[in-house]
Amino acid sequence: MTADDALLRIDGLRVFHGKFEALPGVDMQVGAGEVVSIIGANGAGKSSLLKAIVGQVDRIEGEIAFGGSSLAGRATPAIVAGGIALVPEGRRLFPSLSVEENLSMGAEVGRKGEIGLDEVFGMFPILRERRRQRARELSGGQQQMIAVGRALMANPRLLLCDEISLGLAPTIVNDIYRILPQVRDRGIGIVVVEQDIGRSLKVADRFYCMLEGKFSLTGRPEETDRATVMKHYFGL
Ligand SMILES: Nc1ncnc2c1ncn2[C@@H]1O[C@H](COP(=O)(O)OP(=O)(O)OP(=O)(O)O)[C@@H](O)[C@H]1O
Ligand SMILES: [Mg+2]
Repeated sequence: MTADDALLRIDGLRVFHGKFEALPGVDMQVGAGEVVSIIGANGAGKSSLLKAIVGQVDRIEGEIAFGGSSLAGRATPAIVAGGIALVPEGRRLFPSLSVEENLSMGAEVGRKGEIGLDEVFGMFPILRERRRQRARELSGGQQQMIAVGRALMANPRLLLCDEISLGLAPTIVNDIYRILPQVRDRGIGIVVVEQDIGRSLKVADRFYCMLEGKFSLTGRPEETDRATVMKHYFGL
């Protein structure tokens, strides 16, 4: 992939929360049908990056281009309608609404496309069984499936996942990660933010390691080794 055919291209991005500068300048690209992992410790700036892409931070400098057009000045609803969906850290479901109602929210804010309830239920069969239950009655893992499903219902061209494995049992994390190759095969670009280095590198075509707001290492998982990644993860 060259910078010219990137689905998402970020150049010199600086992200501010009030006066605090969380990211002092990052460059990255994501291609269509590519899985890109971002790994980094607590507070590295991973969520700040994803939030900046969907227009949910106080202020940015630098350039974020999606499908060749700048996202500068666009509000979150326009960005989502344009084809970027975020699975936010902490899921942010509507606990008293049903599974199906939560999923349908994604369709309302997103693009028209081939992914609907049937496709999401195909990926996560347990959600079909529980479709009429309130979201809060489901397990944490099942709630995470709703959050991923809701984002997919927006028919994104780019899917951003913020710590979808956090606090969940490994088997249910497997059930969630299992769908990512299917999503990628639809030509959707995927960014996976994780603290779990092993899982993250396993699914990734390329990765970026973030340390204190900057990328300390980038490449293909098969071109590096664990010791090198750990060094750049912790800044040792
Ligand atoms: N709304 C905010 N106001 C002020 N500072 C913030 C805000 N959000 C994040 N920060 C700060 O920005 C830095 C990066 O935070 P961010 O949440 O992006 O990190 P992260 O890599 O996602 O961490 P975690 O793994 O804990 O989710 C941290 O120092 C954090 O305290
Ligand atoms: Mg975070």
